Formats: sequence, structure tokens, C-alpha cells
Amino acid sequence: MPAQELLGVVTDGSFSQGLRVRLLDPAAVERLRVGSFVVVEGDEHRYFGMVTDLALATTDSALTADPPLHSPFLHRVLRGTHAYATAEIRPSLVLQAGSEQPQPARTIPPHFARLRQATAEDFACVFGREDATHFALGTPPAMDIPVPLDLEELVKRSNGVFGQSGSGKSVLTRLLLAGLILADRVSVLLFDMHNEYARAPSDQPELIGLAELFGTTRVQVYTLDDRTDRSAAARTIQIGLDQIEPEDIELLAEELNLNPTFATVAHHLRASFGKHWIAETRALDADGVKEFCARTGVAESSVNALRSKLARLVQRPYMQESLDTSIIDEIIAKLQKGTHIIVQFGRYDSFLDYMLVANLLTRRIHERYTEEVLEAQRLGSEMSIRPLVIVLEEAHKFLTPEAARQSIFGTIAREMRKYRVTLLIVDQRPSSIDREILSQLGTKIIGPLSDQQDIEAVLTGVADRSGLRNLLANLSPRQECVIVGHAVRMPVAIRTREYRRHELLDLVRTRTGKATDERRLRLLIGE
Ligand SMILES: Nc1ncnc2c1ncn2[C@@H]1O[C@H](COP(=O)(O)OP(=O)(O)O)[C@@H](O)[C@H]1O
Ligand SMILES: [Mg+2]
Repeated sequence: MPAQELLGVVTDGSFSQGLRVRLLDPAAVERLRVGSFVVVEGDEHRYFGMVTDLALATTDSALTADPPLHSPFLHRVLRGTHAYATAEIRPSLVLQAGSEQPQPARTIPPHFARLRQATAEDFACVFGREDATHFALGTPPAMDIPVPLDLEELVKRSNGVFGQSGSGKSVLTRLLLAGLILADRVSVLLFDMHNEYARAPSDQPELIGLAELFGTTRVQVYTLDDRTDRSAAARTIQIGLDQIEPEDIELLAEELNLNPTFATVAHHLRASFGKHWIAETRALDADGVKEFCARTGVAESSVNALRSKLARLVQRPYMQESLDTSIIDEIIAKLQKGTHIIVQFGRYDSFLDYMLVANLLTRRIHERYTEEVLEAQRLGSEMSIRPLVIVLEEAHKFLTPEAARQSIFGTIAREMRKYRVTLLIVDQRPSSIDREILSQLGTKIIGPLSDQQDIEAVLTGVADRSGLRNLLANLSPRQECVIVGHAVRMPVAIRTREYRRHELLDLVRTRTGKATDERRLRLLIGE
């Protein structure tokens, strides 16, 4: 079908509900897809929108009661006259006559405005073209035109990648991170719970890892487990017991199987013993416990139960009495210089390890960024601090409504880069995440979700939910997603780019090659 072919004309509709288009060729209904990006040519303006629904209708109820069964001839005669198809279109943007930039649609086209497929030019007009800060994660399902994300807009806020397990979230995130690393505007700190981002898994060499792609100078690996990944020149990190606050224990309530009273007990212990409360609590003898309980009114059984639960933390092999902050200083210094960091967990990949370590490191790092940004603001040099994107898999564990209130990740998601730190959350269960946090996300990349609650949750705070709901319910189970939010001018469905080792290597080579050429040229012309 030629791209400019007239598909139908607008017959009715409204600004709030969308436009109904009578399709000219009744068979065209089979060629249009819910979610396709289409164009309506009004008399003065050009509207860009999305197909949000398709329907069949008849002018005569007799046809539905007694449809022609066996006559292809009758089918042909009736289709397009008494039996016809319609499409619902939701115009998001309008290109006004004489303008080059599409704007949010505030008008609707008149009756009989013409619907047509979008062309490559329409895509470019709306989504821009790929360049140093525009990176395409894929193409529209039925076309071969890259749909770029505006990475500068993207990193102004926290963002999310959602989709059920196996739908391609982690591969997509890796692709997006490759784009962010190439654009070189932010640093990335990635908590890699499943040890999959640094290098390709042995059974899938195509899925080249970020450390392989960019080299271990630009992407450095830190690990909790000193036995893994020596080849990657990974550095080992340890955690200090004196860094753990009662709030961290609360976040681990499920993993440590704690009941709610433990929080109060932990707060009492922290108040009595200060920073070394865990070590002190562990060292208490029977008299010590009695004395503490008499003083605070806490039940002895609760203190003893908490002590035995804390033993699980103390025994973690990466745990030290007190934290050696030099390694965190080292990580922060590297992030500030534009190095990207992947934190791996090796053998210690339980939720207990992952949540504890991600939480402690992030708190410490955020604290430092806050101090530095406030100091820089005083000196008027805030922009010199390189923004940081923290990537968090299994994000719902940290961002349930209860956890989001107190965990550092909840704070970062709400702050919107006030202190130059944002999150990229990756998750398969958005319905477990605090709604306020979901509505704060700037851009959401949403893959297939089968649970209705997850779909509702992920659309929190998004305009035009009904159209998107339909679209999400119809994504193919793999490598398809919808992008909504600030990094794209309007919601768009794409087929994710195939992640292939040689293509990514080529991409990195050409982009960084070009950058070096430009630098050389600037040197030559004396800039
Ligand atoms: N863009 C892609 N290119 C190539 N393979 C992909 C792509 N997306 C997903 N896959 C395949 O699907 C598998 C599951 O993807 P993954 O990202 O691990 O899913 P999730 O993180 O959502 O559970 C991957 O191991 C890979 O084989
Ligand atoms: Mg995954």
C-alpha cells in the first residue's frame, strides 16, 4: 500500500473522546493496527495521532440479524455501503500551516478530513532524527524508521522500563544505557542483581555486555563477591555494619522475616548505642539486655529475637565492622569523571544482599551529591556536577508504598534531579510500586503486561489512558513496547531494535570515531 494512500475520512468525534474515521476500503481495517501512528490532514493543519480502536458497523440491523453467509458477491456489495469499518484516532499533536514544530493538539480537524498512513517524513517531523543526543530504541512495528528518544529530556527526570518477565526489559535497558553512554551527558551507576549487564551470558554471546562494548576503563565493574569476574578487572566492595540504620532493616523486613515491632526495637537500640548499634547489640550479654530493657521498656524477647535476625546480616561475607569509605569516595570520583559503574553481586544475589547493598551505597552516594550540589549552588557552579542515573532492577522491592516513604530511592524519585541524581527503574510488577512515584516518572517504556492492575498502575499520571490501555493489551509478548512521556513528543509503539553484538560494536565505533574526528578537526582549526 502506498504510504500516502487515503485510508478514510473523519465523520464524527470530539476533542475529549477522539475522532471517528470511516475507512474507505472496508478491508483496510485488517491493515491498520491499534497503536499505529497516523496522520489526519485537516483543511489548515496536519494532525498526528494514534489509532486507539477499530470497529465494524452496519447501517441496517437486518444485516446483523441475517448476515449473507455464502455469497462472496453480496459480501462485496454490502461491504463499504451498508457494512463498514471505522477507526478511532486520538490526535496528540498538530502541525500548523507554516510551522515546522508540531504542538500539542488543541483543535480538531473538520468533518471529512483525510486519514492516511504516516510517512518517514511525518515520523521525522514528530520524533526528530537520530543524532548525538537522540537515540532510537526501535522502529514502528510495521515500518523501518528509527524512532529516537530525546536523551537530554529523558535524563531530566526519573524514568521506568516495565514489562512482564521475559519481555525484553533488561536487553532494552542495556540498549538504552548504550545510548546514554554514547551520548556522554550523564554517568550511570547500575545495580546488576542478575549479573547480566557487564558481559554477555555464555549461552547468548550476541547480548554483548556494556563492559565489553565500551571497555573496562569507561565501564567499571565492582563486585561483592571477590571470586567472580576477575577477568573484568572487577574491584571488590565491602559494606560496614556501622552504615546500617534502622530504616534499612525495615526495608529488609520481608527478607529477614521481621514483624513490625522490630522497627521500634531497632530505633531504641540505635538511640542508645549510636552508629555502632548493631555490633553493640550483638555484643550484649544477658545482663546487658536486661539493663537495656529496664531502661527503655522494650520486651527482652523482642531484643533477643532481633539480635538473632541481625546475625544473618553480620555473617554476610562482604560485611565489615565499619565501612571503609574510600571505596565509595573512589566510586563517586569515577562517576564524576564520567566513568560508568556496574555493581555486581556474584554469589550474593539474594534480595537480602541486593537490597541492603543497593540501599546503603545509594544513600551514601546521594548524601555526597546533595552536599556537593548545595556547595556548588553557593558558588554558582552547579552545572559542573555531572548528573547521575542510578539503574535499579526489581525496583518494586524498594518502592512499595511503605518503602517509598522512607527509602532513599523514594526520595530520589520524588526529587526530580534537584541534586542531579535520577533513577531508571526496571520492573515487572508496577502495581506494587507507590503510585506517586509512578506518576513522577518522566518517561515510561512499557512492554507487555498481562495483569490488569499492572497496566492501570503503569498508566498512573499519563494522559489519555483509555487509548493506551488498549494498545498495551495488544502488544506482542516480546520485543515490543510503548514509549510515553517527556523523551517523545507523543506516545508511540515500537518494535525494539534487535540487540546484536556486531551492530552494537559498529554503532559504538562509528559514533566514537566521529567524535574523535570532530575533536581533531577542532584542534586543527584552532578551536
Ligand atoms: N532487543 C532484543 N534483541 C535480541 N534479543 C532479545 C531482545 N529483547 C529480548 N531478547 C531475548 O529475550 C530474552 C529475555 O529478555 P530479557 O531482557 O532478559 O527479559 P526481562 O528482563 O524482561 O525478563 C533475552 O535473553 C534475549 O534472548
Ligand atoms: Mg530482566
